[in-house]
Amino acid sequence: MRVIIEENYESMSKRAASLISAQILLKPNSVLGLATGSTPLRMYKELINMYKVGAVDFSEIITFNLDEYVGLPMEEINSYKHYMYDNFFRHININSDNINIPDGMAPDIEKECSEYEAKIHARGGIDFQVLGIGNNGHIGFNEPDLKFKAATHLVELDEETISANSRFFNTIEDVPKQAVSMGIRAIMGAKKILLLASGKCKAEVVRKALYEGITPEVPASILQLHPDVTVIIDRDAAACIGAGNINMINI
Ligand code: F6R
Repeated sequence: MRVIIEENYESMSKRAASLISAQILLKPNSVLGLATGSTPLRMYKELINMYKVGAVDFSEIITFNLDEYVGLPMEEINSYKHYMYDNFFRHININSDNINIPDGMAPDIEKECSEYEAKIHARGGIDFQVLGIGNNGHIGFNEPDLKFKAATHLVELDEETISANSRFFNTIEDVPKQAVSMGIRAIMGAKKILLLASGKCKAEVVRKALYEGITPEVPASILQLHPDVTVIIDRDAAACIGAGNINMINI
C-alpha cells in the first residue's frame, strides 16, 4: 500500500486524476470502478479539464459505479445516477452503453444485484477502482458488519451513513434507508485500487482502516490485504497517522 499525503483537497484531486488518466493511456478500454460523494468531485472536474484539452480520451472506457440509493429515480438530484451524469459523464466522450450504475428503481432488487455482479464479471472485473471512505469506514455502501459481504447486495444503511449523507437532502427523513452496493469481492478483485480521503473528519477512520486490525467492522480495513492500493489523502485526513506509519510523504 502506498500512502501519498498531499497538501490539500485540490492537489489530492489533481494527483488522483493524473493516476486515472495514466491508467486510460496505458489501457484505453479500462474498466473503471467509480465512486460518488463529496471526495471525488474535484477529481472529476480535473478529468473533465484534461479531456477538454485533449489529454485523455474516454471513448473506450467502461465504468461501474459502486452504489446507488434504492427508490431515487435519475431525475432526483441526490440519485447517484444524476450525480454521475451531472458531474462527469455528460462532460466527456464516454459511450453511454459502457456506463453501469446499479438500478435502485429496479422492481426486483435481488435480481438487479445478481445481474450487476454478472455484468462486472462479464467485463473481466475492474481494472482500476476509485474509493472514498465513510466516517464509519464503509467503502461503497459496505457498512460495518459482522461479516464482509462478497457480492453486490441490498444494504440497510447505517444510522451514521444516513446522518452523514443528510447534508445533501432537505431533511434527514428524505435520505433513503436502503441502497445497492457492489460487494467486497468486486472491489478487492480490482487490479488497482485508489482510495481518497480529505478533511479532518476522515482522519481517525483513515488511521483505523489503514493501520489497525482487519475487521468487517471497519470495511475499508480489508484494503490492507490488496496487493496494489494507492491511498491519496490530504494533510487533514492524515492528521492521525503517526510519522512512523507513513511509507511515502509528498510535501
Ligand atoms: C459513494 C461511496 C461512499 C463514499 C463515502 C464517502 O459512491 O461509495 O463510500 O465514498 O461515503 O463520502 P464523501 O466523499 O461524501 O465523504
